[in-house]
Amino acid sequence: MSKLTPDAELDLLFAPSVIPQAIRDALPADLHIRPLAKSDYTRNHLPLLSILSPAPDPGPAAYAAHFELLRSAPQTYFTIVIVAPATDRIVAVGTVFLERKFTRGLGVVGHIEDIAVDNTVQGKGLGKRIILALLGISEAMGCYKTILNCSDANIPFYEKCGFAKKENEMAKYA
Ligand code: ACO
Repeated sequence: MSKLTPDAELDLLFAPSVIPQAIRDALPADLHIRPLAKSDYTRNHLPLLSILSPAPDPGPAAYAAHFELLRSAPQTYFTIVIVAPATDRIVAVGTVFLERKFTRGLGVVGHIEDIAVDNTVQGKGLGKRIILALLGISEAMGCYKTILNCSDANIPFYEKCGFAKKENEMAKYA
């Protein structure tokens, strides 16, 4: 029995139609893909992200305020989730955010961030579907390239998604 909350009842980060139709059509019937919702605090969003990086609980009010901050930057933050209707919990998540540059004729670059697939459903193609959906959004928004940082262990995964290694990452933590 489905416990899925319909998209129409959710406060979403952006319009569901931005997610490529081909990706939505290809998803198995027991899964649903949609934009992040303001109420996804209750649907496993932060625990899922914590497999990737520490994601301490800020509480529901701070989560909602953060969601509004992201949404206030139009056409910039695109976080998508795959939800299991049987539980209404998020099992995969990923983001592309758009950087508007002065170079490349006011070009736009897509940055893919915070990809996580629940341990229980890894290896079933969900990570690749998330990446292909984010690439579709990035390209539809006019990005001339889409980039990301990853560990050596994840290079084969991103190669399977069409990426190639280029240059190096530098980091300075506060
Ligand atoms: N090594 C080699 N191949 C891999 C690996 C790997 N580590 N991971 C996936 N693949 C291959 C799969 O075999 C599959 O190949 P196929 O198309 O030939 O069948 C293809 O890549 C797609 O795999 P998926 O099943 O879509 O991968 P999954 O759903 O497990 O998602 C992910 C991969 C996101 C890395 C997942 O394992 C995960 O959440 N890991 C923990 C968090 C993490 O490392 N996230 C990425 C951080 S980088 C970033 O956020 C930009």
